[in-house]
Amino acid sequence: MADRVFMSNHPLILHKLALIRSAGTEFKKFRELLREIAMLLGYEATRDLALRETRVITPLAETKGFELAEKIGLVPILRAGLGMVEGIWELMPSAEVWHIGIYRDHKTLQPVQYYNKLPVSPTVQVCLVLDPMLATGGSAVATVNVLKAWGTRRIKFVGVIAAPEGLRALITAHPDVDIHIAAVDDHLTPPPASPSDPPEGYIVPGLGDAGDRQFGTG
Ligand code: PRP
Ligand code: URA
Repeated sequence: MADRVFMSNHPLILHKLALIRSAGTEFKKFRELLREIAMLLGYEATRDLALRETRVITPLAETKGFELAEKIGLVPILRAGLGMVEGIWELMPSAEVWHIGIYRDHKTLQPVQYYNKLPVSPTVQVCLVLDPMLATGGSAVATVNVLKAWGTRRIKFVGVIAAPEGLRALITAHPDVDIHIAAVDDHLTPPPASPSDPPEGYIVPGLGDAGDRQFGTG
């Protein structure tokens, strides 16, 4: 695996991953699990954030302390990335949240951007792109393209499940982006041969449609 891919083996993440994958997990529980997994992955993904030294006065003495030196942006890809915001935001309440709206065209599987309100100049130095599913990789690659064009210096992708195809696509297009995930699954579904087959481009075993499962649609 490329040295910028960080696959968590944290027991809490792996335990929650099995629960979120389960078809029997209803959508309230799905959202809770996604929030919790995102928080744990976010903790790991922020391990190397830059710090600057400060002074702090305790009730007893003055001492050395630290504060985050860089402005962080959380960038959820709508819709499914929304469920990852709260958990990580709790860890870093000073982070800005910038939404990018992208959906996959059902026929071509190509990403279609429909929402982007980034201001002209970048307001953050580090962006964490949030999306639970890295399938073909098209949505993640398109989002990183947008953030680089915006002028973001450092970008990390934080997801839950990747397909090998998506991982390859993101590493190839953006070898400078760290990728934090909980699992790399087996393959993507091929084009359906019969009406009872699942649609093309879903991660197997995966967890199904992450947007539908958290918002109760589909
Ligand atoms: C899902 C998912 C990712 C994308 C991954 O979004 O949340 O954004 O697919 O697929 P890719 O790696 O092949 O681009 P979807 O297109 O279903 O949009 P939605 O969350 O709005 O339903
Ligand atoms: N998007 C999802 O929500 N699930 C997949 O398996 C692939 C793309």
